[in-house]
Amino acid sequence: MMSSSCLFSLHFPVCQSSLALDWQTDTLSVLDVEMGHTSLCVLGLLLLNKLLNCGRAEGLDAVLTVKPNWPTLFNQESVTFTCDLTEEKDTDWNYTFTGNGSRLSVCGTEKSCSYKLMKNSSGDYKCTGRHRSRNLTAESKTVTLNVTVNSRPVITVSPSWLSAEASVTLYCSVKDQSAGWRFYWYKAIPKLSDNNSYSYELLPGRSDGTEQDVYIVHGQTHTAGYVCKAGRGDPVFYTYYSKPKFIWSGDFHPASLRVSPDRAQHFSSESVSLSCEGNSTEWRVMRFTKADHLSNCSDFGTVNGSTCNIHKFKNNTAVYWCESGSGQFSNAVNITVQNKNIILLSPVHPVTEGHPVTLGCKSRTEILVSNVLFYRNGNLIQNDNRGQLNISDASKSDEGFYWCEHSGNVSPQSWVAIKLSRPETSSVTLPVIIMLVCGMLLIILLLLLCCYRKSKYSLFARTMPSQKTNQDSANQDETQPKLSSSHQSGADESNDGIYSLIQLKYFRNEGKLSPGLTGETVYSEIKLGADLGP
Ligand SMILES: *[C@@H]1O[C@H](CO)[C@@H](O)[C@H](O)[C@H]1NC(C)=O
Ligand SMILES: *[C@@H]1O[C@H](CO)[C@@H](O)[C@H](O)[C@H]1NC(C)=O
Ligand SMILES: *[C@@H]1O[C@H](CO)[C@@H](O)[C@H](O)[C@H]1NC(C)=O
Ligand SMILES: *[C@@H]1O[C@H](CO)[C@@H](O)[C@H](O)[C@H]1NC(C)=O
Ligand SMILES: *[C@@H]1O[C@H](CO)[C@@H](O)[C@H](O)[C@H]1NC(C)=O
Ligand SMILES: *[C@@H]1O[C@H](CO)[C@@H](O)[C@H](O)[C@H]1NC(C)=O
Ligand SMILES: *[C@@H]1O[C@H](CO)[C@@H](O)[C@H](O)[C@H]1NC(C)=O
Ligand SMILES: *[C@@H]1O[C@H](CO)[C@@H](O)[C@H](O)[C@H]1NC(C)=O
Ligand SMILES: *[C@@H]1O[C@H](CO)[C@@H](O)[C@H](O)[C@H]1NC(C)=O
Ligand SMILES: *[C@@H]1O[C@H](CO)[C@@H](O)[C@H](O)[C@H]1NC(C)=O
Ligand SMILES: *[C@@H]1O[C@H](CO)[C@@H](O)[C@H](O)[C@H]1NC(C)=O
Ligand SMILES: *[C@@H]1O[C@H](CO)[C@@H](O)[C@H](O)[C@H]1NC(C)=O
Repeated sequence: MMSSSCLFSLHFPVCQSSLALDWQTDTLSVLDVEMGHTSLCVLGLLLLNKLLNCGRAEGLDAVLTVKPNWPTLFNQESVTFTCDLTEEKDTDWNYTFTGNGSRLSVCGTEKSCSYKLMKNSSGDYKCTGRHRSRNLTAESKTVTLNVTVNSRPVITVSPSWLSAEASVTLYCSVKDQSAGWRFYWYKAIPKLSDNNSYSYELLPGRSDGTEQDVYIVHGQTHTAGYVCKAGRGDPVFYTYYSKPKFIWSGDFHPASLRVSPDRAQHFSSESVSLSCEGNSTEWRVMRFTKADHLSNCSDFGTVNGSTCNIHKFKNNTAVYWCESGSGQFSNAVNITVQNKNIILLSPVHPVTEGHPVTLGCKSRTEILVSNVLFYRNGNLIQNDNRGQLNISDASKSDEGFYWCEHSGNVSPQSWVAIKLSRPETSSVTLPVIIMLVCGMLLIILLLLLCCYRKSKYSLFARTMPSQKTNQDSANQDETQPKLSSSHQSGADESNDGIYSLIQLKYFRNEGKLSPGLTGETVYSEIKLGADLGP
């Protein structure tokens, strides 16, 4: 705002011009005057000004804008301050920027200033314009910036437990939900040399992040950990990495965790040992509690090689698993600890469909043999003098939460998981795979030839990149071996070829991946000669 230096300034729509009149110096600036009635307007304004006996400054203001104007700004994030004058040409002006009243020396006298925020940068910001030759100033209103230290997003993994091989949905949630974030997704690789820590391996195909805060991992088969972070702005400001979250699997591949005694429920006074078995010498036993607390064996037991011994199994209801420095994860188990009288005897590992399973009930001193009631999902399913619940031929419908009751005492509930029995693909060896690939190729070739005869037009709607982009194809439904082919229409139209992408998935026999199948997916890319083109 102008002070007593009388500046008269207004837009005059008829004149299509802006005029500024300095009463003190009696100079008149005509700004943005367009061709036409200029001189008439100037004269008119001059008269109007004299008549109004201009005594106060009017109209000239500065406006401070901060870009980007996120609701929350973070330490180390960069912003640009811009000072715009409302009624003036902005050349011939010097600008200053202040924070809490003191000048930001890193900002010069230009109308824009790029500023890197620090922890202590919260406060009230203003800018002031000073005319270089005339005694004119314009000051902006206050803009309050709220700068917080960096934040840690929270990743959510859904579902938490894998049933068979499935898609896993990851969500990344930042505190400041405003637009502009990109999300980066990582697999957690255990780092045994460090405190419960992990290194992060970017999930393939998304090195520049995703716009969406959702990422779908297809074909997950075993326990794994995931991490996300978010970034925005230019230069990019990154949040911290989220804490890891896990998708758990009961599958013993590629390593296994054995619980001794072998059951899902334990009394708090008992000793329990958890041992890791697999193709690694170094393991750590991890657990994740209901309260979202992740810790390793040295927090709740004693480590002896790849075994974790827990002496007083207090307050230890959690999901437990093993992980190795080479990045392997074992099956995970639900363990429930009972402080009171009785526990359910139930398998800690999933039961294979078709196999028998026996549930029992135990007090601190003995296995209860009579007057035991068994419940599944809240319903009484056995109420007689047998001490055990025998399921001779387990099926998916037997899955559920079970507990037992004996003379008024109730055990905690435990989930009994039933896994589907997989057909014994005893030894799918490399020759078989090669034969399969060749067979499929042949079929595709024939199909392509056939289709080309029928139509000279584009056969397939979708185009596909010619490179192997294994995770880019992750959006497809990958539950079946899938053939997809497409007419490649590159920039060079004359060079059209046919590309076929074949994915073979999950040739897996019990325990081991077949040689040559180090990953989960095999891609074969075949480029057929351009002689098939039109
Ligand atoms: C500018 O104007 C203010 C207020 O009218 C006055 O106090 C100040 O002395 C002037 N400065 C100059 C350099 O003329
Ligand atoms: C402004 O003042 C607040 C509160 O007194 C302080 O926390 C903040 O660091 C100051 N900011 C600047 C940029 O001086
Ligand atoms: C903010 O902290 C930095 C160092 O971290 C210091 O150089 C700067 O003077 C501080 N600014 C204010 C306004 O306190
Ligand atoms: C404007 O800034 C220039 C340097 O950018 C300086 O030399 C000049 O004295 C300043 N003028 C005013 C009126 O502040
Ligand atoms: C600044 O942000 C913090 C944390 O988000 C919040 O608690 C505080 O109320 C905010 N302050 C202002 C002035 O908006
Ligand atoms: C390990 O974690 C503890 C607390 O959990 C911490 O005090 C210590 O500094 C950490 N050590 C390393 C090497 O990160
Ligand atoms: C286990 O956790 C403890 C304490 O948090 C830490 O000092 C130790 O390094 C961790 N060990 C491994 C193998 O992660
Ligand atoms: C662990 O419990 C959850 C339900 O809380 C269940 O979905 C999951 O299948 C259980 N895992 C095993 C290995 O039993
Ligand atoms: C695990 O087994 C595979 C072959 O099955 C072998 O190539 C690899 O070196 C083994 N890793 C370790 C750590 O022993
Ligand atoms: C560790 O386990 C081995 C056998 O697995 C046993 O001989 C040894 O005594 C155990 N060490 C400790 C400290 O318990
Ligand atoms: C047991 O866990 C609960 C929450 O999980 C916690 O509040 C309580 O302090 C723990 N008790 C002990 C003895 O660790
Ligand atoms: C349940 O099966 C076990 C053997 O699997 C058998 O010993 C027991 O008698 C059976 N109990 C009942 C009540 O059928």
